[in-house]
Amino acid sequence: MASIFFLTILTLTLTLTLLTPHLSHAQLTCTTQKFTNNKLYNHCNDLPSLNSYLHWSLNSPKNTLSIAFIAPPPTASGWVSWAINPSGEGMAGAQALLAYKASNGTMVVKTYNISSYTSIVEGKLAFDVKDTRAEYSDGLIKLFATVVLPEKGKTAVNQVWQVGPSVTEEGFPAKHAFLPVNLAAKGRLDLLSGRSTGGSGGGSRTRKRNIHGILNAVSWGILFPVGIIIARYLRAFPSADPAWFYLHAFCQVSGYAVGVAGWATGLKLGSDSKGVTYNTHRDIGIALFSLATVQVFALFLRPNKDHKLRFYWNIYHHGIGYAILVLGVINVFKGLDILSPESKWRASYIIVISTLGGIALLLEVITWIIILKRKSSKSTKPYDNKQQPLAP
Ligand SMILES: *[C@@H]1O[C@H](CO)[C@@H](O)[C@H](O)[C@H]1NC(C)=O
Repeated sequence: MASIFFLTILTLTLTLTLLTPHLSHAQLTCTTQKFTNNKLYNHCNDLPSLNSYLHWSLNSPKNTLSIAFIAPPPTASGWVSWAINPSGEGMAGAQALLAYKASNGTMVVKTYNISSYTSIVEGKLAFDVKDTRAEYSDGLIKLFATVVLPEKGKTAVNQVWQVGPSVTEEGFPAKHAFLPVNLAAKGRLDLLSGRSTGGSGGGSRTRKRNIHGILNAVSWGILFPVGIIIARYLRAFPSADPAWFYLHAFCQVSGYAVGVAGWATGLKLGSDSKGVTYNTHRDIGIALFSLATVQVFALFLRPNKDHKLRFYWNIYHHGIGYAILVLGVINVFKGLDILSPESKWRASYIIVISTLGGIALLLEVITWIIILKRKSSKSTKPYDNKQQPLAP
């Protein structure tokens, strides 16, 4: 009981901490930008010059940074470029991604090793670049890429971006202008706080997703399994009757309350990301909510213990209960895949759920020992009809 209270309090505290806005963000333009590809980024920044925007997600376990850089080229045949400079600030040393619309209309993405202002070499960069792609619409080029960060555990990178008027016949980008806005197009991108110097951060979506993750992991991923373990194993002990029932009901009802809150945050996240849906995660979430709602009502429609329908009610209640258990755990992992938080979160959940699994296994063994003992004592005392049947 104490541990359940502890969990509930912990959840509420975490939720309140996360809900309290740490920073009041200025109105961001990038948060309203949508992508046609099936992609959601955790952060976005309105870059401080050249009307450019950066959307990005950091995958810490893989040490990769997925980006979408959006900028208006000065002309329809111009280029836009975004770079990480691992060795300094500004253009010299920059490892650049560059996109433009070729004369035949196709979008081209190239990489340039800019070791100095005079050495701009197309080819490999100091880090791996994957999944490059570009789109052109309404005068904006969107450049997509995933880069493997130069160093593991890096918390900030120097970024540089630029736009230029044209690309030569041979596909070489022409010099950009040297206006103050061009020269100001550089800064630091803080991978921990989500902020970019000069621009403002778009971390509120990440905060909402984290709240959603914590609420659902605690309810569907922990409270429901704990409640099921209580129901299945505690009642093997006659002394735990009827305490097990109240504990079970308390776990499932509080799990349901927290779960509904988590489910609502999921609906909000879903409606905020138009055009991007995580179908499996959403469908499992909807199924979980429906099944759990049926379970809560089942509590009130429960036939009396000796009623002839009670047998069928048990089958139905246990069946749905186990379905919720399995789907809940699957969906926590699906959510972890989508959110891709620091690896410690996944590790913590794996530890919690395997500990619960271990406890269940141990109790399963103990229960069977008790059942077998009762069976053998029954066979030596055939007229002992006080024997309680033990249906798991
Ligand atoms: C980039 O160019 C510099 C100077 O030519 C060279 O030292 C460096 O190795 C190049 N980097 C890559 C990844 O080729």
